[in-house]
Amino acid sequence: MADDGHPRGRLAGRLIGLGVTGSIAAYKAVDLVRRLQDQGADVVVLLTPSAARFVGPLTFAAISRHPVEGDVLALLPDGRIGHIVIADSVDALVVAPATAHWLGAMANGLSGDSVTAACLATTAPVVVAPAMDGDMYAHPATQANVRRLRDDFGYALVEPESGPLASGQQGIGRLAESGRIVDAVVAALAGRPIREPRSERRPPTVAPVRDPDLAGRRIVITGGGTREPIDTVRFIGNRSSGKMAVALAEAALDRGAAVTLVAANTTVSLPDGATIRQVETTGQLRAAVLEALTGPGDEAGPDALIMAAAVADFTPTRPSAGKLTRGERVILELSPTPDILAEAARIARGLDAAGEPTRQALRPVPVLVGFAAEAGSLDRAPGKLVRKQVDLIVGNDITAPGSGFGTDTNRVVIFDASGGQEALPLLAKREVADRILDRVARLLGERDATDVDGDAATRQTVGPTHEGQP
Ligand code: C5P
Repeated sequence: MADDGHPRGRLAGRLIGLGVTGSIAAYKAVDLVRRLQDQGADVVVLLTPSAARFVGPLTFAAISRHPVEGDVLALLPDGRIGHIVIADSVDALVVAPATAHWLGAMANGLSGDSVTAACLATTAPVVVAPAMDGDMYAHPATQANVRRLRDDFGYALVEPESGPLASGQQGIGRLAESGRIVDAVVAALAGRPIREPRSERRPPTVAPVRDPDLAGRRIVITGGGTREPIDTVRFIGNRSSGKMAVALAEAALDRGAAVTLVAANTTVSLPDGATIRQVETTGQLRAAVLEALTGPGDEAGPDALIMAAAVADFTPTRPSAGKLTRGERVILELSPTPDILAEAARIARGLDAAGEPTRQALRPVPVLVGFAAEAGSLDRAPGKLVRKQVDLIVGNDITAPGSGFGTDTNRVVIFDASGGQEALPLLAKREVADRILDRVARLLGERDATDVDGDAATRQTVGPTHEGQP
């Protein structure tokens, strides 16, 4: 990496796919990733199932910063086919070490693993560095396969070296030194432009590991979808899975926070480390949030409240005590539910329903985050931020591909109280969660900085904090 943060080197800006197959030399592929990165390359690793028995995917994911492509049948979180994304975006594919078995599979086009599949699917140059026992390499079958890859497919072969082998024998079969393989990749790319500079067309990246920057913080998160009873068996509900809230809870726990998760009808398993409050209706969710905000006794309230739950806006006015029977004509009257987030914001700042100071503000004043799930335009989201008097609104278009209920990914825009908008690309919900928590951590830092003598929390009770909003 050069001083200006931009990679320099003979592979600067290149994306290299490194296919690792099941030889004892697989451990040398870890060094090869580093040597390719030293030359400025971004490296994504593909593993065959037997290679994964020699070196685990975690090692390669950690050093490459990309999820490892190990299962030819698995899809990426955003629904794309991983080995095809790699095949279509890499500048070159390198197979190192290449086993006798893999050479045979490749020579015959048998795409049973992601390395072979990517090689079949790519138009990029392929560099192959075999490694195996000397007699295996010398066998006419192996030599025929090597010739086919080199002469018929046009692959660049980096011949194995002579020396002591894992079998205990001496012979030709040791994986070529990393430097020779890097040289072969550079030579294969000579004169070619960078194939796919757009990051959204390249394989996804692994989220960077965050510091425990929320240690000592208490965070209340709501998630899932509320159910409003029509009678004793039926309800009005919504399609929220709770995935976004669980991602937020897991991310906050990993960053050291104590987390209370108010879970309304979720379809995913809830994190072990969080205090769970199971609720069903909007009324129960409201009670749980208000209790978590003010808490029993003199305990300080939470540092942040993140309302990711899909809360009903209407509830049947008079739910039936029994089960409504077939044949009756039913007209349901719905009443609006209280806006829990707006109420929480008023309580936090010690305001009454008219916005007048009425009691002590909470100490600390929690950072308040709401969600705005919209179908189509996010134009209404900034208005919600002002109306509800919250610090951040996370807007997402639930009709956009890969976004919304039940998906593993989300594309959101974070609106803040000073009118700023941060549009994030399509990301895994866990990464969205971390980006939201980055903002929460920053706001908490700012709050602490202005609260040195304990005055800031009180100061915030006397007026709206969102002047300047449209
Ligand atoms: O106004 P809208 O329902 O779009 O606002 C969404 C945000 O407000 C979400 O954060 C949701 O959890 C919260 N909400 C609430 N009480 C309601 C409805 C929504 O706190 N009755």
